[in-house]
Amino acid sequence: MSRLLTRSTENRRAERDYENLLVVDDVRLAFGGVTAIDGVSFHVDDGELYAIIGPNGAGKTSIFNCLNQVYHPDEGDIRWKGKTVLGLKPNQTAELGMARTFQNIALFPHMNVVENILTGRHIRMDQTWWQGALWLGKGRRDEFENREVVEDIIDFLEIERWRKQPVGMLPYGIQKRVELGRALAMDPDLLLLDEPVAGMNLEETEDMARFILDIRDELGIAIILVEHDMGLVMDIADRVMVVDFGRKISEGVPEVVQNDPEVIKAYLGET
Ligand SMILES: Nc1ncnc2c1ncn2[C@@H]1O[C@H](COP(=O)(O)OP(=O)(O)O)[C@@H](O)[C@H]1O
Ligand SMILES: [Mg+2]
Repeated sequence: MSRLLTRSTENRRAERDYENLLVVDDVRLAFGGVTAIDGVSFHVDDGELYAIIGPNGAGKTSIFNCLNQVYHPDEGDIRWKGKTVLGLKPNQTAELGMARTFQNIALFPHMNVVENILTGRHIRMDQTWWQGALWLGKGRRDEFENREVVEDIIDFLEIERWRKQPVGMLPYGIQKRVELGRALAMDPDLLLLDEPVAGMNLEETEDMARFILDIRDELGIAIILVEHDMGLVMDIADRVMVVDFGRKISEGVPEVVQNDPEVIKAYLGET
């Protein structure tokens, strides 16, 4: 197995020289007159499965867009391993170890599974394009390692039988797994998953839940899971934050959040 898939939370914690992996400090974001994020603060630790839930339009995706600097908060700070990310470009946040999947599938439909996951490596490739193109020296070594990592990920996500198929032809649940694989290929310390089970049937949802747990438990990667639906989150998250109208209305372990009158009100109020 490649080094990527053999790092535990313990190793990650031993290596670190910061307090919290991610700190979000009183972030605000408005679009014209619409306040999408209204002073939200939270933190995530190494190897933690942190969930953000809330009704549609509550600001969940906007929070992700601030974390990886697709959006720039109007106020507040976001610190990654102790340093602000404000002012970075989205690809720089990815290089620092934040990987993301999207609410809608964003794969290359004509490329096969191996090729799609390999695109996740390119962000981490320690070589110039011409070395890769010439297939020489260091470029060749990196390419070998990249291929090895991709095969480990394919193994881990149990998608061997589709590895040479164009992803556009695959069942939805498998495409979502490939997308997860591409994010893993970036060798992240934190995975941002935006509604990973939306549109999935029960079996696909259960599979995805199992892989999310395996990523935390076996790979030691921290995860922020954004979900519209409470069910999955309450089963698997370590801690949960509930947002409504851009505000944090509750936070804590699932049992506490589930019984919080504010949360019950927000959810019953929605229907
Ligand atoms: N790029 C944008 N331009 C204008 N309004 C936006 C933009 N992105 C999000 N919003 C608004 O911000 C609010 C929060 O949206 P979003 O973060 O997508 O919510 P969620 O992911 O919780 O459903 C909504 O009112 C939405 O319309
Ligand atoms: Mg969203």
